[in-house]
Amino acid sequence: MLSGVQPTGDIHLGNYLGALRGWVDDQHDYDCYFCLVDLHALTVPRDPAELRAKSMECANLLLAVGLDPDVCTLFLQSHVPEHTELSWLLECTASMGELRRMTQFKDKTARGGEEAARVGLFTYPVLQAADILLYDADRVPVGDDQRQHLELTRDLAMRFNKRYGKTFVVPAAAIPAAGRGARIMDLQQPTAKMSKSAESPQGVVLLLDPPKAIESKVKRAVTDAETGAGAVRYDPAAKPGVSNLLELLGLATGRAPAEVAAEYSQYGPLKADAASALVEMLRPVQQRYRELTAEPGVAEKALAQGADKAHAIASVTLHRARDAVGLVPRP
Ligand code: AMP
Ligand code: TRP
Repeated sequence: MLSGVQPTGDIHLGNYLGALRGWVDDQHDYDCYFCLVDLHALTVPRDPAELRAKSMECANLLLAVGLDPDVCTLFLQSHVPEHTELSWLLECTASMGELRRMTQFKDKTARGGEEAARVGLFTYPVLQAADILLYDADRVPVGDDQRQHLELTRDLAMRFNKRYGKTFVVPAAAIPAAGRGARIMDLQQPTAKMSKSAESPQGVVLLLDPPKAIESKVKRAVTDAETGAGAVRYDPAAKPGVSNLLELLGLATGRAPAEVAAEYSQYGPLKADAASALVEMLRPVQQRYRELTAEPGVAEKALAQGADKAHAIASVTLHRARDAVGLVPRP
């Protein structure tokens, strides 16, 4: 199993409930590789000092949520050069047309235009395919927004195998069910996904937000003007804001959103309970994060160990792919 997260911005509830929390359970059931995709972060402008600091912050957060470096393999993408090398072989497998159809590329170039976009932003999904295929992953747990990138990865693996003979395992996405964390929405703009690049920080609950900030963000969450019996119901299309709150409270307390809805008739108490459930859910993560950052070297050691383990697997797959396309073996 392999998954990845960009070590940029701040990790939020969408990342946690859509992906990270599931990884913590999965590490005991699968042979897991978790990649901090720092090379993917370079597809848009970044301050170098900030990228470096955020990469370490993100590593600490992944440890704080419960990834155990002795159980799973946690590493930085840039520490395993096989990722970029396989990416080239896959760029020579992908077509311009299929990359142009990627909605993430279209979204991210909508404002600045395609002319100015970095080439890396265009080829981003191919590097992601390399991340996955290097580890023979058959399961890739991600949020719903990554569905199209996973389809592309499968297409590239199948095309490569057909052209050059069986080389890669064809992976499948593992996406949480609707209402169970697949797509957590922005609290201020509940028709848009909660995202690291949101316009307003008010709509995004960060894993390291202090309890007061979580409470204030949840209390100010956009709902709707409906009142009376039945106003609190799970209906994402008609009531995106309320449904998102029901989903969040459900995920924090281990229940389905519709089950949660049955207990409320007003938005105020729903918000108050959602806020305190989220504060309680994040309390141990924040506590562990403080402990980890007080102990210098823990994350560095985990990443060094992870890079060694990842490299050992990735180099074998890359060798197979190089051989398949006809590159002469290194003497
Ligand atoms: P990213 O922040 O884009 O690196 O995403 C890391 C992981 O979090 C990926 O598996 C995403 O699919 C997932 N993710 C990001 N935003 C959300 C969201 N709003 N709801 C559910 N999952 C999300
Ligand atoms: N593109 C993913 C995102 O934005 C991050 C990512 C990069 C990833 N490589 C991956 C996710 C490999 C899963 C598997 O969230």
